[in-house]
Amino acid sequence: MTAGPAALNGPAAVKRIEARVVDVDAEGRGLAEMGGMPIRVDGALAGERVAIDKLRRRRRFNEAKLVEVLEPSPQRTQPSCVYFHLCGGCRFQHLKLEAQQARKQRILEQALSAHGVAAPQKWFPPITGPELRYRRKARLGVKFVPGKGGALVGFREKRGRFIADIQRCEVLVPSVGDRIRALRELVSSLSARDRIPQIEIAAGDNATALVIRHLDPLNEADQNALRNFACSQRLSIYLQPGGIDSMVPLWPQNPPALRYQIPEFDLDLAFEPADFVQVNAAVNRALVSRAVSWLKPGSSARVLDLYSGMGNFSLALARRGGWVSGVEASARMVAAARRNAESNAIANASFEVADLEHPGEVAQALRGAFSAMLLDPPRSGAARVVEQLAAPYPSQIVYVSCNPESFARDAAVVTQRHGYWLESAGIVDMFPHTGHVELIAQFSKVTR
Ligand SMILES: C[S@@+](CC[C@H](N)C(=O)[O-])C[C@H]1O[C@@H](n2cnc3c(N)ncnc32)[C@H](O)[C@@H]1O
Repeated sequence: MTAGPAALNGPAAVKRIEARVVDVDAEGRGLAEMGGMPIRVDGALAGERVAIDKLRRRRRFNEAKLVEVLEPSPQRTQPSCVYFHLCGGCRFQHLKLEAQQARKQRILEQALSAHGVAAPQKWFPPITGPELRYRRKARLGVKFVPGKGGALVGFREKRGRFIADIQRCEVLVPSVGDRIRALRELVSSLSARDRIPQIEIAAGDNATALVIRHLDPLNEADQNALRNFACSQRLSIYLQPGGIDSMVPLWPQNPPALRYQIPEFDLDLAFEPADFVQVNAAVNRALVSRAVSWLKPGSSARVLDLYSGMGNFSLALARRGGWVSGVEASARMVAAARRNAESNAIANASFEVADLEHPGEVAQALRGAFSAMLLDPPRSGAARVVEQLAAPYPSQIVYVSCNPESFARDAAVVTQRHGYWLESAGIVDMFPHTGHVELIAQFSKVTR
């Protein structure tokens, strides 16, 4: 390798050069080093020797184009999706699944170590499920681009802001992933084709809903085209003219509630297209199973489920006994949880609305003696909750997280300030082929 940092000056391409890739970032880009300068190389994997060109100096990093992999990593695999190199929906299809999971495990270990949290006494193997056709909730971008022959529908490109030009998607559930082309044709046929910025998808075990965001009112012809599509494709279509609360069904007029089952707990749960649901049905079933087996609620248990959504964990816990209190910020989801308790004949669970960022509401939620607690916060974590933990402490805490960084920060408080120890933890491969890292961990109270 002869080129040094000087090769980065100027916007134009330089001759092909060789570099060694030392790491991969969260977006799946290889990080090579040349003359002491880090360079991002999309598509390259750690340990590979690669040929690169088109070196460019960017404001925050330098980047180069991968020309050829000269020495491939043993962990490299052929991406199954033909759009992998273009579409930003998946970042790691070129890395074997086990290596993706090992990477997620390393990220969790590094986050714990950075926050001074001792490794768990026991690491559990990752919770895994299908690697393709798993994603039942997503927001797809829409853009009418006459030069591309009509509307684009999909995730954003890996590089840049544009919607990827794809005809199908392998990670979305088939009811949508196999219909990307049909959706493109549908949007292209509408007179409001350049006034539709996104389509939200939500799929249950029984039905699939599309929520069409539109910036101007849709005329009768467009509405009819959408109705015909919904009818012929056996989908529910909702219109969303404004914020999420403006969503109304277009066809059928009374769409079936979306539902999913968790057979181990004899649960049949209903949700609305706008509600949060865990995106991977099979992984969710295993995740709920693990949370319940770790918390082991008995008939005298009092379990507090914070960030309870529409009752995904609470109702499974309630099936095993005791009393479960769910707390959640969204009134709509609390109402859904209560309906789910009723429709599943569960009388030992209650749900309340509270903002767990608000100290007074956290204090209220934590009032009372709970034998166990489950936390499943959004990406920002549960800082306020763990700050305000106090005696009488629950003997077990299970923490489900979609962000190792906020989890590790909260774990430091739970272990160092409140005297719990991190008993078990493991990765949850909820989003295979993406950079999302999810995990489940169990804390036990040290008895003195
Ligand atoms: C990761 S989801 C988990 C939902 C549920 N446990 C499940 O498995 O489906 C996080 C939940 O936290 C709720 N949430 C977000 N911010 C909150 C807050 N400040 N206070 C209470 N709940 C909040 C969201 O509405 C969402 O339902």
